[in-house]
Amino acid sequence: MSDIQTRKRILTGDRPTGKLHLGHYIGSHRHRLAFQEQYECFFLVADLHMLTTKPDKESILAISDNARSIVMDHLAIGIDPKTATFCLQSAIHETYELQLLISSLITVERLLQLPTIKDMAAAANMEQIPYNLLGYPVLQAADILLPRANLVPVGKDNESHVELTRQIARRFNNAYGEVFPLPEAYVVGGTLVGTDGQAKMSKSLDNAIFLTDDAATVRRRVNGMYTDPNRVSADVPGRVEGNPVFIYHDFFNPNKAEVEDLKSRYLTGKVGDVEVKEKLANALNNFLDPIRERRAKYEAETGIVDELLYEGTLRAREEAKATLLAAKQAMGLAGVWNRISRGAERRRKKAEAAI
Ligand code: TRP
Repeated sequence: MSDIQTRKRILTGDRPTGKLHLGHYIGSHRHRLAFQEQYECFFLVADLHMLTTKPDKESILAISDNARSIVMDHLAIGIDPKTATFCLQSAIHETYELQLLISSLITVERLLQLPTIKDMAAAANMEQIPYNLLGYPVLQAADILLPRANLVPVGKDNESHVELTRQIARRFNNAYGEVFPLPEAYVVGGTLVGTDGQAKMSKSLDNAIFLTDDAATVRRRVNGMYTDPNRVSADVPGRVEGNPVFIYHDFFNPNKAEVEDLKSRYLTGKVGDVEVKEKLANALNNFLDPIRERRAKYEAETGIVDELLYEGTLRAREEAKATLLAAKQAMGLAGVWNRISRGAERRRKKAEAAI
């Protein structure tokens, strides 16, 4: 047995709504690079979750391309396709089954108390909560329980969903027999402000730098960045704390001496925004260069992303099938159809023998 099969397992997911930007990287994906060293990693393209707020045909038609772009972004940042399993949620049919089977273990009231459900409804401009949005965390529980994941990296906002998953697993094991290991949340974080100084980088606010942006685009976006609005000229002392350009320098510029020098000159009015931004654009492009190189390498291997997602999904399905069967057996549900079909078989045989 190879080492990878004895490692603890991680599952985490992304809704396929578009390409990754630096905010995703800081908040979540950079941590996956560290995880892959120690854990067996499943990366789920959660398209069924996307349907809770975007069930329109247009969004559905965009899933294939967005799923590919998620996988490619993972490869580009350095996720190792030899050890990672990429999988497509809507093709893992066991997910739909398990979600329904575990739904008796949790009440509507409990789900309505989660702030996430209402927040997502509000963000999607929904006045009422669709049935599948209420079930969002139960679907997530099915994702986590099917591969029997031990650890679930999530943002702070999703911690309650892993807590709910634990509750479901505990209740299932008590009611029917031990099937599910209790998963643990691993809260990862880091929020990156937008280039406009808004609280969060996001595609819809048009304040993002994407992993796919080329050097000139990065330069342009950095030049347009929000800095200290009170600083009308380079000789006016500026504010460093909370200033987006310095927040980015702290995250992405590995030359700490340069950053400290810029900060102290900024505070005393001895450096222009132009220089600060030029050095930031350089740092960002240096950071993105290896990501661009890996992307180009994988792009040259036509079909590699489809193949990885296909093979990974088949693999995840094997795991899911075994777990679902164990769950149905524990519940006593697996035997119901078996008994009925055996009875029908016996009768058919008798009838044939009588001819
Ligand atoms: N809820 C996650 C999000 O905010 C996506 C997701 C779906 C997920 N299934 C998961 C995360 C399972 C961790 C584990 O987009």
